[in-house]
Amino acid sequence: MNMKTLTTDFTVFRRDFPVLQETNRGRPVIYLDSAASAQKPRQVVDAVSNFYFHDYANIHRGIYELSERATRLYEQARDRVKNFIHAAHAEEIVFVRGTTEGINLVAQSFGRPRWQAGDEVILSTMEHHSNIVPWYLLKEQLGIVLKVIPVTDEGAMDIEAYEKLFSPRTRMVAVTHASNVLGTVNPVKEMASIAHAHQVPVLIDGAQAVPHMPVDVQDIDCDFYVFSGHKLYGPTGIGILYGKKALLDAMPPYQGGGDMIETVAFSKVTFAKTPQKFEAGTPDIAGVIGLAAAIDYVQSAGMQQIYSHEQILLQYAEPRLLAVPGLRIIGTTKPKVGVISFVMQDIHPHDIGTVLDHEGIAVRAGHHCAMPLMERFRIPATVRASFGIYNDENDVDALMAALHLAKRLFG
Ligand code: ALA
Repeated sequence: MNMKTLTTDFTVFRRDFPVLQETNRGRPVIYLDSAASAQKPRQVVDAVSNFYFHDYANIHRGIYELSERATRLYEQARDRVKNFIHAAHAEEIVFVRGTTEGINLVAQSFGRPRWQAGDEVILSTMEHHSNIVPWYLLKEQLGIVLKVIPVTDEGAMDIEAYEKLFSPRTRMVAVTHASNVLGTVNPVKEMASIAHAHQVPVLIDGAQAVPHMPVDVQDIDCDFYVFSGHKLYGPTGIGILYGKKALLDAMPPYQGGGDMIETVAFSKVTFAKTPQKFEAGTPDIAGVIGLAAAIDYVQSAGMQQIYSHEQILLQYAEPRLLAVPGLRIIGTTKPKVGVISFVMQDIHPHDIGTVLDHEGIAVRAGHHCAMPLMERFRIPATVRASFGIYNDENDVDALMAALHLAKRLFG
């Protein structure tokens, strides 16, 4: 991919993010931590504040115009999410707090009622803690067994080893679409097809894929897909669980409360249909409105264009990074999203992060909530630079200058 593949001018997006026009420690803000959380454009913040100022009321309850309007906006947002990830039905979209809650919901509502001690869930070494711990809790609650797909030295999923992990006790495959540390984009469609050949359902953690590339859940043919709004330039505290309708219909509610019931008596409660039965209590209505605005925003750029933009930045950054003496990139396989993790000989990632911060550059340094992956690569931590819609080659140049400075100071 090269510049010619870009038909969108990405310099215009940067202007939508006020913080990027400001300074940090007296220097322009250079934000290279979108994989942790993306900055928010005016369009998203305006949509949320307009909603609170002009359309706000509780949903699904009022018999007055404002409440009906709020309900309409909320349900229209569900439709927008459906179209965004190419789900077949709006009912397959459940609003949750984020990726973490979506995975916990599936573990507790799909897994817990139907699995027994000795049943197996396949995960991978490159999972974020949010796609390990909910299954680990089931291991403690039920005695299930976690089986782990290895990762190659380049940071790819070992598909041959994956195929060998299936047994008659395999009940679920739960893997990430794109690694938050390595950037690796996994062959999730192929992995889903292998799992389905064993009649095993598949959950995909899309938190790090959805902001960077087009996603089509029907094409992948996954059974569940989860992602968070805040990495997609949307508000914090809102995310999506997609589930095939027949599966969601067969699952009991995860939480009980208002708005998820049909009738309530002390002797018997009947539940609302999918997806309302999974949305107990007053939801984050404004978050949902903000998420819809974020989807409109990225779609105005085009997801394929965003992918190409980040590939250009990756191609620009990688050789320059490798020219820094002693620097090693962790995760060299392709395809990958705009995430680069690296270590530098004899300099702790936290020291690098501190130097970068002094230069006004925000990156993440640490284990990235992926401790098993750190152990796999026998490192305590990495520095991670991650790209978003607003980054450009100047940001990469600033990163390089600061890394050379760190090398002079500590190397
Ligand atoms: N999951 C986020 C990250 O990778 C927080 O940084």
